[in-house]
Amino acid sequence: MAHLDKFKCIETSIVIDVLDKINSNEKGVVFVVDSTNKILGVMTDGDIRRALLNNVKLNDSIQDIYNKKFTYATTAESTSEKIKKLDHRVKILPVVDENFIVVDYFHKENLFQIPISAPNLRGNEFKYLVDAFLSTWISSSGSYIEIFENNFAAFCEAKHGVAVSNGTVAIHLALKALGIGKGDEVIVPDLTFAATINTVFHAEATPVIVDVENDSWCIDPKEIEKAITPKTKAIIPVHLYGQACDMDAIMAIAKKHNLYVIEDCAEAHGARFNGKRVGSIGHIGCFSFFANKVITTGEGGMCTTNDLRLMELMKVMRDHGMNKNKKYYHEVIGYNYRMTNLQAAIGVAQLERIEEILQQRSGLENEYRTLLAGSNIIEFQRNDLKNRDKITWLVSVLVKGNYKDLVVEKLKEAGIDVRPFFISLGEMEIYKPYLFSNSNSLRLSKVGLNFPTSGETSSKVTKTIQEVVRKIEEQIVV
Ligand SMILES: Cc1ncc(COP(=O)(O)O)c(C=O)c1O
Repeated sequence: MAHLDKFKCIETSIVIDVLDKINSNEKGVVFVVDSTNKILGVMTDGDIRRALLNNVKLNDSIQDIYNKKFTYATTAESTSEKIKKLDHRVKILPVVDENFIVVDYFHKENLFQIPISAPNLRGNEFKYLVDAFLSTWISSSGSYIEIFENNFAAFCEAKHGVAVSNGTVAIHLALKALGIGKGDEVIVPDLTFAATINTVFHAEATPVIVDVENDSWCIDPKEIEKAITPKTKAIIPVHLYGQACDMDAIMAIAKKHNLYVIEDCAEAHGARFNGKRVGSIGHIGCFSFFANKVITTGEGGMCTTNDLRLMELMKVMRDHGMNKNKKYYHEVIGYNYRMTNLQAAIGVAQLERIEEILQQRSGLENEYRTLLAGSNIIEFQRNDLKNRDKITWLVSVLVKGNYKDLVVEKLKEAGIDVRPFFISLGEMEIYKPYLFSNSNSLRLSKVGLNFPTSGETSSKVTKTIQEVVRKIEEQIVV
C-alpha cells in the first residue's frame, strides 16, 4: 500500500512534516495514524492555515490541531455509500478495515473524467506560497516578483521579463507599449485561442486573420506577406500547441516592412526556432501561466523583451502608468496588469522544475506516439520540421477520415476528456469580417484533437486511448 505513504502522518509529527506530506500528495489532506497504522484523525491544509493564524508554529506538534471527529469509509461500504459521504468539505475519505487500519482512500476524482491537463505542483510551490503569504506581501510588491521575472527571462534567453496578471493582458500591454491603436492593422493567425485576436480589438486596432501552414499549423509567412497593407503595424505569430513559428521568415518580413512582432508564446514555453527560444526573437514575447500551461501561477502572464526601453515602459504601463520615481505622477495611460507576489511565488517554484516538467511532457508524447504508431486514423503533430524544436504542451493529433467525433465520443465514454482544436477564427461571426485567408486552418480545426497531457496522465490513459483507437480502426476495416 505504498500509494498511502504520502497520505499517512504519525500522530507525533510536527506541522512542517504534515505540510510536506500535503505538498507531496497534492490532495490537501493527510490521515493521522498511530504506530500500528490505526487511524486517529485527519488534517487538511485548511486546519494548518487556521492553526498558523492562531500562532501555532511550524515546529509544533499536530496533536492538538488535527481533526479527531472525521469522516471515513469502511472497506465493506459500496461506492454509492462512499459517494454519499463526500461533499464540498470532505473531498477524500480514508478507507479503513475492521481494525481501523487505513487500507485505501476514496476521492471524487475516482468518479470523474481524466482531465485534459492538471498542474504539476509537487516542488516548492506550497512552501514559497506560504512564505509569501506569511510575509504579508500578498499584492504586487514582494521579493518573488523580481526573482520570477529574472528567472523566467533567463529561461527564455531574453534580457527582461515583465510579470502581469494573465497572458491576455500580456499581449494587450505589448500592443500598447508598441504604440499600436486606432487605424493600425495587426496580422494574426486563424488557428489560435481567441485571446490573440481579442487583444487587438482591446487596443482598438484592426485584426487581419491569415492562414496557417499545413505542416507546422503555425501562421504562414507567405500569407502574412500577402496581407500587408500600408496600415499594417504588427504581426502576432502564435507558437501553436508547442510548435515554433517560422521566425526567420517572419522577422525578415517585419524588417522589410517596418513592422513589430509580438510572439504569442502562451502554449510554447521553451520551444526554439533556429536554436533561439521563443519569446526572445520578436520585439516582445507574451506568455500565459494559466493552470493548463507548461508552468502555471494559477492565473498569470509575462512579457519578455531584449529592449530595455520597452521593458521599462511596460513596467510603468502595468502599474497605472505611474512614474516609478514620482508617486502619483502618471506619464502614460496605464492599467492595473500587475502580478501578485503569491502568483510569483508559485512561478518561482514552477521554474525550478520547468526542464523536468518539459521532459515529462515530451516523454508522455513519445508514449502516445509509440502506442499509436501505425494507426490508420491518428496523425501526430510534426516534430521533424527544419529549425523547429517543439515542446509538448498538449499532445496534438489529427484524426483522419471522418472519425474525430467518434473518437471523442468513445473516449468520453471511457472517462477520458479530449479537446477539439480551436475553432477557426474566420468561422465565427464576430471575427469573419477580418478574415483574409484560412483554408488550411479550417481543415485542421475540424480534425484536430488534444489528448490528456500532464504529469497526472497515466499509462492507463494512454493505453485506453490506444484501445479505443484500435477498436474504431477494426470497425472501419469490417
Ligand atoms: C495562444 C494563446 N494566447 C493567449 C492566451 C491567453 O492567456 P490567459 O488565459 O493567461 O489570458 C492563451 C491561453 O489561454 C493562448 O492559448
